[in-house]
Amino acid sequence: MRVKKAIIPAAGLGTRFLPATKAMPKEMLPIVDKPTIQYIVEEAVESGIEDIIIVTGKGKRAIEDHFDNSFELEQNLLSKGKIELFNEVQKSSNLVDIHYIRQKEPKGLGHAIWCARKFIGDEPFAVLLGDDIVRAEKPCLKQMIEQYERYNASILGVQTVKDEDVSRYGIVDATEIGSRFYTVNSLVEKPKQEEAPSNLAILGRYILSPKIFDILGKQEPGAGNEIQLTDAIAALNEIEAVYAYDFEGVRYDVGEKMGFIQTTIEFALQHPELKTELLEYLSKIMEKELIK
Ligand code: G1P
Repeated sequence: MRVKKAIIPAAGLGTRFLPATKAMPKEMLPIVDKPTIQYIVEEAVESGIEDIIIVTGKGKRAIEDHFDNSFELEQNLLSKGKIELFNEVQKSSNLVDIHYIRQKEPKGLGHAIWCARKFIGDEPFAVLLGDDIVRAEKPCLKQMIEQYERYNASILGVQTVKDEDVSRYGIVDATEIGSRFYTVNSLVEKPKQEEAPSNLAILGRYILSPKIFDILGKQEPGAGNEIQLTDAIAALNEIEAVYAYDFEGVRYDVGEKMGFIQTTIEFALQHPELKTELLEYLSKIMEKELIK
């Protein structure tokens, strides 16, 4: 069956960005001129996804407004002849059909995914996490969907991370069976560095079998006392094969401050209007810092 639906969980409290996220969803923090969640939605659309469900929570209404029409703003831009901006504003509301459901309590990623079960029904689906933006020639999710079409099984998007970073991710113990392709032997959520079975980390992209929902419905809280998606995938792996795919592309962690700043600089350096000025500015700062 084709993968047509995607879940984007966006209910997290954004505590790593307080106070910025006190009244604004962290998914709306911009990288240059687009909120992070728009990069994620665009990747899904470019990968062939037809329907997206965003799992939101309290204080997340700005996300719905962003992907909705903004009549007054559009009229205002039109009347001033700002056609390029008008097109940009319209683009975000015409990307794809987006549906919303609220996670009423912050019970973890696994629970957020479970909240979307009725929307997904009995078909394979994608999950894209908003903290991970991937820049790739072929969109990350598209690469994974192509693998899905060959194997018809759940696939986790992974990449190798540094030893000191394994405790921040779901880590897989996996056996390579093809180019960039692995069978998953076991999974563990946020292991201690000395206990991690490998450095292969799940980086915010999944294609999952709908069987995961029954498992999630019974899943006990795990790491951080939250219902963990990784634990449910480990249980799924007991009843049907789960694979991992080492996707091509650079992945940016916009879920923590340093990653967010690096992403902003790198994306600004790709921006035709900003590149030259930013490079001049950065080299001036570097000179100043070196003279100190
Ligand atoms: C979540 C998942 C984790 C995954 C990570 C990727 O963790 O639970 O398995 O490796 O996203 O960014 P979080 O970053 O929400 O703590």
